[in-house]
Amino acid sequence: MSAGNETFRVVRTVADLRSIVGEWRRAGLSVALVPTMGALHAGHLHLVAEALKRADRVITSVFVNPTQFAAHEDLGTYPRQQERDAELLAEVGCAVMFAPTVDEMYAPGAVTKISVGDAETGGPSQGLEGAFRPQMFGGVALVVAKLLNQAQADIAVFGEKDWQQLMVVRRLALDLDIPTEIIGVPTVRDETGLALSSRNAYLSAEELAVARRLNVILKEAGEKARAGRPVPGVEREAYDAILKAGFDTVDYVAIRRADDLDVFPSGVIEGEARILTAARIGRTRLIDNMAV
Ligand code: PAF
Repeated sequence: MSAGNETFRVVRTVADLRSIVGEWRRAGLSVALVPTMGALHAGHLHLVAEALKRADRVITSVFVNPTQFAAHEDLGTYPRQQERDAELLAEVGCAVMFAPTVDEMYAPGAVTKISVGDAETGGPSQGLEGAFRPQMFGGVALVVAKLLNQAQADIAVFGEKDWQQLMVVRRLALDLDIPTEIIGVPTVRDETGLALSSRNAYLSAEELAVARRLNVILKEAGEKARAGRPVPGVEREAYDAILKAGFDTVDYVAIRRADDLDVFPSGVIEGEARILTAARIGRTRLIDNMAV
């Protein structure tokens, strides 16, 4: 859908971003936002390509968001390669890389927080990643709400690899009346089925071989559940299989309703379901999920 050529620009401030989006709007062009934390790989570029099919101009944000990392997590070592990211984005036809500093995103004195549900209200941020990374979805919700507000895009494109995040963002947009349409794009996998992730860069050759078993185990477990086996037993077997494959720890492996991530009360799958996992190998924590 991309309309005509546009010189690629790296933009550092919200004011500059707004002025460019304003120009596009006056020219009648539609706008897509692809939020990322950079260290771009083929999975991100696929999101940009999907965005380009649906809008005239694409903004990719590159911002390693400190509010979604806990103190013990990998904020300091998270891969950063903005020059390379800019080259890749220019090559695939993205118009703007929006890469603000932390101070630009979070002005001194900023105190507002966003919670997409809690223990009392429930909601897609509860459990799974929300249980193991309690700071994560508050930080994601805050930065995504800010990015959606800053870019005022028609659509925003997110990978299904972070399925729970996608459900949280959809809920956020709905609850806050944000008019940007939230689009989910299926996970890009390598030839062995391993979900592409910036954190795969941390894996040694041996760890990579183990990591590549994860999607196979999820697929097999999903098939058993879809065939009518009780969910708790299938989850337990998948948990054991992930450890047996060589992962050091498994945070969770769960089969849930696809949209609100609730458990199946009857213990067997009814309607749309998703199997989701997070497991650690060496110093790397990997997540993956797929439709069941
Ligand atoms: O998925 C990510 O890369 C991040 O969580 C996001 C959505 C860019 C927010 O920082």
